[in-house]
Amino acid sequence: MFSYPTVNYIGNKEKIAGWICDNFPKDATTIFDAFSGGGSLSYEAKMRGLEVYTNDILKINYHLSKALIENKKVLLTDSDMKLIFEGEPFEGFMYDNYSEIHFFPQECKELDLYRSNIEKLDCQYKKSLAFSLMRRAMIRKMPYSRFTIKWDKVVQLRDEEYSYEKYKRKRAYHNQSFKYHFLKNVDEYNSAIFDNDKNNIAYNDDVFNLLDKVKADIIYLDPPYAGTMNNYFGFYGMIDNYITSEKTKPFENNFRDKKTVIDLFDKLFSNLSNFKYWFLSYNNNSYPSKEILISLLGNYSDDISLIEKEHVYKITGKQNKKTNTELLFFIKNKYFKN
Ligand SMILES: C[S@@+](CC[C@H](N)C(=O)[O-])C[C@H]1O[C@@H](n2cnc3c(N)ncnc32)[C@H](O)[C@@H]1O
Repeated sequence: MFSYPTVNYIGNKEKIAGWICDNFPKDATTIFDAFSGGGSLSYEAKMRGLEVYTNDILKINYHLSKALIENKKVLLTDSDMKLIFEGEPFEGFMYDNYSEIHFFPQECKELDLYRSNIEKLDCQYKKSLAFSLMRRAMIRKMPYSRFTIKWDKVVQLRDEEYSYEKYKRKRAYHNQSFKYHFLKNVDEYNSAIFDNDKNNIAYNDDVFNLLDKVKADIIYLDPPYAGTMNNYFGFYGMIDNYITSEKTKPFENNFRDKKTVIDLFDKLFSNLSNFKYWFLSYNNNSYPSKEILISLLGNYSDDISLIEKEHVYKITGKQNKKTNTELLFFIKNKYFKN
């Protein structure tokens, strides 16, 4: 039995992926997870034997899906690990741009070394797996697991004495090395890789560029929710910068802005004719309300179901624990043509 490894993606659907997939019609054999994030839903769908196409605008999420969903059998070996960690840390892109912004200078130099070594791996799946594990290590060292925390706060929270006094937790893992975290997680990631005898594909694009290119029985929509923790570029864009060695731009169609989000949903729904069944994850704390969504969806279907479930999001530690009612819209597309 395979299991989804520890990814810790904000807004992930790991705990309810089984429940979501239980609602999929039995005649569906292919699924497009159009906002795949950390890939938890895609992983569950892959385990259930569906052919899975993933997409996310963030490059690091593409690598996660390339490594865990598209990849059938490529693992990182001991000699790959030797290659990734060999050599002397040097002053590169991370050192120049993120010293004392997100990590200490020596840590940035290590990241620069590991990135250039990952490029030497001879296979795309190995590179994706290595970036996924480096992401895990970076997130583990980062207080609150996201890159929107100011440096003085990072330093304070990485001070183990302070952290213990204030929160009764030392959080020593923030000060363990990237290499330590990478090696600690590699077996878990390697053993999550399997072949479901389907040709699963990972994409990395703005969803609007793919809706007429990808065809599947189901499209699963899990966009950022306006009005909740939704700054994905801020949370993880820095990892894309690490991967590409350049400062990437925030994405435009980000579903964050209350002024534009309704139009964006409408534009999304009007471009889903390739998909017979639409599933949209949503929750009761988001904007627009479920009533507005139902009225928008009514333009495309007269067969809409709304399924509800309590879901506790635990982002990190005690903070941000919030009970939501998780909503799942199930829409049968009346304009679907085979
Ligand atoms: C709620 S998260 C998805 C979580 C995912 N279902 C999981 O289980 O990890 C929303 C995702 O949408 C992505 N996203 C935002 N705008 C996008 C766009 N225009 N095209 C594609 N992906 C986008 C974000 O990068 C983020 O990963």
